Amino acid sequence: VISGLLVERPDDPVAVLRQQVLRRRAWYPAPDGAAPVPCPVGPPPDVDGVERLVAVLRTGLDGDGVVVVALDRQLGSAELVVLATGLGTPQQQLDPRLQPWVEDGVILHLRADEAESDDRAWRLLFTEGYVMFHTELAGRPIALQPRHLLFQCVDAPDRDAGGQTLLAPMDAVRARLTDRQAGILAATRHAGFADPPTFLSRFDGRDVVTYKDAEGEPLPWEHLGDDPTVTAAEVEDALRALQAAVYHPAGVRGIPWERHLLAAFDNRRFLHGRACSPPAASGAARYLREVRVFAGDPAELEAAYASAAAADTRSA
Ligand SMILES: [Fe+2]
Repeated sequence: VISGLLVERPDDPVAVLRQQVLRRRAWYPAPDGAAPVPCPVGPPPDVDGVERLVAVLRTGLDGDGVVVVALDRQLGSAELVVLATGLGTPQQQLDPRLQPWVEDGVILHLRADEAESDDRAWRLLFTEGYVMFHTELAGRPIALQPRHLLFQCVDAPDRDAGGQTLLAPMDAVRARLTDRQAGILAATRHAGFADPPTFLSRFDGRDVVTYKDAEGEPLPWEHLGDDPTVTAAEVEDALRALQAAVYHPAGVRGIPWERHLLAAFDNRRFLHGRACSPPAASGAARYLREVRVFAGDPAELEAAYASAAAADTRSA
């Protein structure tokens, strides 16, 4: 095992690309397969309409890994939860700091209406600033991460005014790496999380990227491979190549938000982030409702919750 601390340099490609991608106001093209599908729903609660929506979402997620549906009204909270339940198990939002924005334990109200902040942590979610690319819950084993992220848009930013949910397709990220880099990343993981997967892994026959960009904060890593020719410098070069690949502008896609639009994507096929939103003072703040969907064995998730709760109690 070799380990190290990757320190970002101002002239690293990612330092430039990150700003270029996340501060761009012009919208990125929608991902393949994400042309909005119309799916009418009747007055709430429309049980049959939600059933039809589940089928549309499943088809899109199984095919392209992302799906966008045009709706003509907001789903009620119960409908949104039923919809998420059709895809798996809605994952509880347990972070005590987020509770003011959580409804029914699983719906997160993402209103980008606070001024941009230097805080690089959770508060970013609620500011008009950008959110760096990440795999959702990147510190957990892949089997315990949310499988899908489901959103409905309440208030959309204007087209080409920023505020998009941005997606980086993992297969495009992998395609920008050499086989040697990919091999190194498949044996390297973040050393600051308790039980993270390696940065690159195979799951259901696909390359999965597990990475959370912390914008220039030193990145502790450990390389678990047994190839004696791999050096620490080479691991760090592979990590820089990964960061640059995630932020390569040609690969970035964006959700074309409009009021009531419903979108879902697969956390094993896309990293996601958020472009800077229009200033809250302009009255065009972006507002989404989000549900994380777990698609594995609910008993495993319950066990993970229990141990997380135990850990919280110990640290409190
Ligand atoms: Fe996220």
